[in-house]
Amino acid sequence: MANILIQIQRFNPETDDKPYMQDYEVSKDILTGMTIFDALAYIKDKLDPTLTYRAFCRSAICGSCAMKINNRAKLACKEQILFHVKNGKVVIKPLENAKIIRDLAVDVDEALDKLKQLKPWLEEDPKKVPDSTKSESLVLPQEFAQYDKLTDCILCMACYGSCSAKSVSDNYAGPFQFTKALRFIKDSRDGVDIDERIELCLDNGLWDCVQCQMCLAACPKGLTSADDIQELRRYAIACGDESTGAKRAVTWFRDVFATGQIDKYNLPVNAKGDIAKREELAKEFANRGISPDKFAPQPFEKIDEFRKFIRKVEEEVK
Ligand code: SF4
Ligand code: SF4
Ligand code: FES
Repeated sequence: MANILIQIQRFNPETDDKPYMQDYEVSKDILTGMTIFDALAYIKDKLDPTLTYRAFCRSAICGSCAMKINNRAKLACKEQILFHVKNGKVVIKPLENAKIIRDLAVDVDEALDKLKQLKPWLEEDPKKVPDSTKSESLVLPQEFAQYDKLTDCILCMACYGSCSAKSVSDNYAGPFQFTKALRFIKDSRDGVDIDERIELCLDNGLWDCVQCQMCLAACPKGLTSADDIQELRRYAIACGDESTGAKRAVTWFRDVFATGQIDKYNLPVNAKGDIAKREELAKEFANRGISPDKFAPQPFEKIDEFRKFIRKVEEEVK
């Protein structure tokens, strides 16, 4: 039976200058029914005891085996290897946005430090949580439903290792960190002031997310950090955030509601108070003999229907 080529990124910081790819060939017969985790264990056991990776539960629960499989972050113990074979090979690399400890094992400390900065714990609201163990702290089913799904995060870092914003910003907390922040904002027992929690999110780059949606694609538990970040941004605006990100969002919404389009000519002033930028644009228009008014967006014919649709969406997300 044919062999499958498994290419694995190797790196030992003590001996290697840079990462390199190493090839392992295993017969398709042996790999049939194996997960990526099983295949790595087979390689370590039979072919190369120096191969290093992290895994524990083998049940998609502990979150320790996230890695990049054909360039997508996945849990190695959840993925059948043959499903990922393309042109006879599978390529396995460590998660990005984290320092490599060795081969496929990455350092999780920085991501967890970022998480800590967002206060991922409950500070009990004394009105909700009794101070003795004689009575229970009651959470109504409809209250729990607000954050039930958000508690499914297993801290695997698949989202973090795929995040575009994290790859360019050291300050950016990361997707699962914001999902966790939202989880505590929504917990009816939490006594931390919402402004304080939102301030922590703002300090850790809430507006830096570029909504690339890679975190959604990566999450093995179906969590939607990109949407959670949008929800946190709505909270931020409601709390009076006046940062550039908040102003840009408010301006875009106002423009789109008014005409269906963004007023690009006035955007620098409306979103950032950047008069110099608009003057630059005005000069550019003048050089080309164009009046900026020509670019002022006008409402399109069915704008009323469009506005009704926006209002309906607003009601639904409330
Ligand atoms: S949507 Fe935002 S949080 Fe999610 S991966 Fe993209 S930049 Fe990161
Ligand atoms: S949000 Fe999903 S992908 Fe990100 S750490 Fe949690 S479980 Fe993993
Ligand atoms: S080994 Fe625990 S999630 Fe994969």
